[in-house]
Amino acid sequence: MRIYKTENYDAMSEKAAALIAAQIVSKPDSLLGLATGSTPIGTYQKLVQGHRAGFFSFADVRTVNLDEYVGLSPTDEQSYRHFMQSHLFDHVDIANENTHIPSGTASDIQEECRRYDALIDAIGPIDLQLLGLGHNGHIGFNEPGSSFTLRTHAVELSKSTVNANARLFSSREEMPRYALTMGIGAIMRARRVLIEVSGEDKASILASAFAGPVTPEVPASILQLHPDVVLVADSAAMRELEGRL
Ligand code: GLP
Repeated sequence: MRIYKTENYDAMSEKAAALIAAQIVSKPDSLLGLATGSTPIGTYQKLVQGHRAGFFSFADVRTVNLDEYVGLSPTDEQSYRHFMQSHLFDHVDIANENTHIPSGTASDIQEECRRYDALIDAIGPIDLQLLGLGHNGHIGFNEPGSSFTLRTHAVELSKSTVNANARLFSSREEMPRYALTMGIGAIMRARRVLIEVSGEDKASILASAFAGPVTPEVPASILQLHPDVVLVADSAAMRELEGRL
């Protein structure tokens, strides 16, 4: 694993964006696995800036997102489709048909999971998978205890995740309790994984993920077994991991 420790969130975002930009420049039709959450927002801003400055183009880039809330339509402001449009896709020259996110409103959820897996099989493997880290160690919405071998599936969100994400909804009741997520199997098949982590509140779980045992109780710990992981974390998030490496 390669680790880049940065001074703060802004520098973390800059470094992660530079690594993604390098991926696009070296392979213009890269398949990027993308993530949502507050962590990658700065990274997407830097990518938009770099694109506007003419450093690289998304014209041939293809993307698959990790997850989506069940029940939210693509136009719902809380949906991950809306997040991706407003933070990245609407501001770069990516083709809409090259951006993929599981549908949270599919009438048959199991069929939607199969469709998404077949899509990833057809256009994969993922060249670079961007990840954030949940407070309970989840990646995508693969919650603690979920099997390492699952592919795209529906999950009931844990209490910890509902607590963490409810702040983004106008009331706790509005926050969906289920989501569709790409499984750890697909994440582990990505050629490279780029995980970014920021803030003191993630210091303990980051240390458990990369210096603790590999266990489904900490889903991100499986990344210890991936051959090409890049961790970009700010100094606040690195506080506990540093002493344990
Ligand atoms: C969310 C997403 C994850 C994200 C994580 C951390 O629920 N499903 O993909 O990495 O939780 O979110 P944040 O970056 O806001 O801390």
